[in-house]
Amino acid sequence: MNSMNRSAGRMVVVSNRLPFVVEKDGRQGWRLVPGSGGLVSALLPTLKDRGGVWIGWPGAVQEEAAARRVLNRSGDQSGYRLVPVMLSADDIEKFYLGFSNEIIWPLFHDLQSMCNFDPGYWQSYVAVNRKYAMAVRGAARPADFVWVHDYHLMLLGRELRRLRLQNRMAFFLHIPFPPPDIFFKLPWRQELVWALLEFDLIGFQTWRDRHNFLQCLEVLAPQASFSGRSQVMSIRLGGRTVRLGHFPISVDFAALEHAAGQESVLWEVERLQEVLHHRQLILGLDRLDYTKGILNRLQAFQYALEHSPSLQDRVTLVQVVVPSRGDIPRYHELRLRIEQTVSRINGQYTRPGSWVPIHYLYRNLSPTELSAFYRAAGIALVTPLKDGMNLVAKEYCACSLEEDCVLILSEFAGAAAQLHHWALTVNPYDVKGVADAIARACRMDLAERHRRMRPMRRSIRRHDIFWWLDLFLHAAFRRDLDDFPVDAKPLREGSVTRQVRRRRR
Ligand code: G6P
Repeated sequence: MNSMNRSAGRMVVVSNRLPFVVEKDGRQGWRLVPGSGGLVSALLPTLKDRGGVWIGWPGAVQEEAAARRVLNRSGDQSGYRLVPVMLSADDIEKFYLGFSNEIIWPLFHDLQSMCNFDPGYWQSYVAVNRKYAMAVRGAARPADFVWVHDYHLMLLGRELRRLRLQNRMAFFLHIPFPPPDIFFKLPWRQELVWALLEFDLIGFQTWRDRHNFLQCLEVLAPQASFSGRSQVMSIRLGGRTVRLGHFPISVDFAALEHAAGQESVLWEVERLQEVLHHRQLILGLDRLDYTKGILNRLQAFQYALEHSPSLQDRVTLVQVVVPSRGDIPRYHELRLRIEQTVSRINGQYTRPGSWVPIHYLYRNLSPTELSAFYRAAGIALVTPLKDGMNLVAKEYCACSLEEDCVLILSEFAGAAAQLHHWALTVNPYDVKGVADAIARACRMDLAERHRRMRPMRRSIRRHDIFWWLDLFLHAAFRRDLDDFPVDAKPLREGSVTRQVRRRRR
């Protein structure tokens, strides 16, 4: 049993968004549609087991009272409660679109020139973090473990301490933490770092992110003293101890693998291969975002077609772009530029009636379509300019049931720390380097594909989302860190993992 299971309290998860979206349902009024992704699939069963609460924004809803009703109702059946935090139009503009997505998002992805350091955004960030703190205070009991997620809520620890909450509190940052020369551009750097230090545990995706944070602390909190250098370390500060760790988030490997083997997926794979005339399918799959490097990737693909003409008529790039943050002008402009670039390349290389080099989709995919694209693609191009982890890379490997696919992976994705020995790693800014990797992947023989894909799958299978959850909870609850496993070696399977796995069988 790990300490979370021994402790009396429940888990209170706080994230900007709730794991469900409230949608209008033709006849019955409103319904909840579950979000996708590893975090939701790992945390919901845990909340269900232990009881608990998830606090977050249900998205922009037109009828607030109806949304509250349907969220409340869900708690009666599921064993955990969903507590909505409603954001006003002003909050959405200044806290979500503004401070979170026009300052922290670009800054933490090393794109400081894209930041709009509007002081009004900061005020709103403080006010909305307070609003979330009030919601936590209303829902949490004294023994509960409060687990806060991501960059929207970095002040929440401080706000909760101001409200006199003594609970154990942890924070996990899903995006990268930048090096000091970039972080120091933030006008509110001191306040932000000190607010983070109010948590008992701060988790990062990779060693590099934690290292960057430590370097910032050396300047912004010079009185802090450090001990331990392994997966989880401690810092002493003003009579308190704060733990800092790196925990690479992952996917529900078994569920993805199972889904990829379904008959409906196989039908879809066959259909896709037929319409693409059994050409080599290269997949790009990203949320619409300038950090994903989609334009650089298209440029590299074009370079590959131009300089390795034998690829023409042999490969097809399927680029899926999932709509996101459409209310931010920069995202809208990016979409237009992607679409212009795709049509320029297609205009230049298409062979009428036989070959279109890029198939472009701008929409959400159904789970079956997603698995089918993963399975049908012999090569995946995952080339973000910077990324906290990038779960597309891990999902792709989980779906490669024949273990014969090639992953081309940006060295600036957090996933590269785990997969760099076996993926073809590239610098996404290096057009020729990415083009060479595409050509190399197309030529790669089956033996080398197996040699590379097998260990990636083994690594992700062992270090799946449940392993991540256990690792994080151990770091939050274990008294003594001396025997804590070092550097991403898996822990003995903990009780959370065991329970959830058992239920799924
Ligand atoms: C990233 C962030 C998440 C966020 C997601 C979608 O993965 O780390 O916290 O939820 O993007 O972005 P959105 O702005 O739509 O919530």
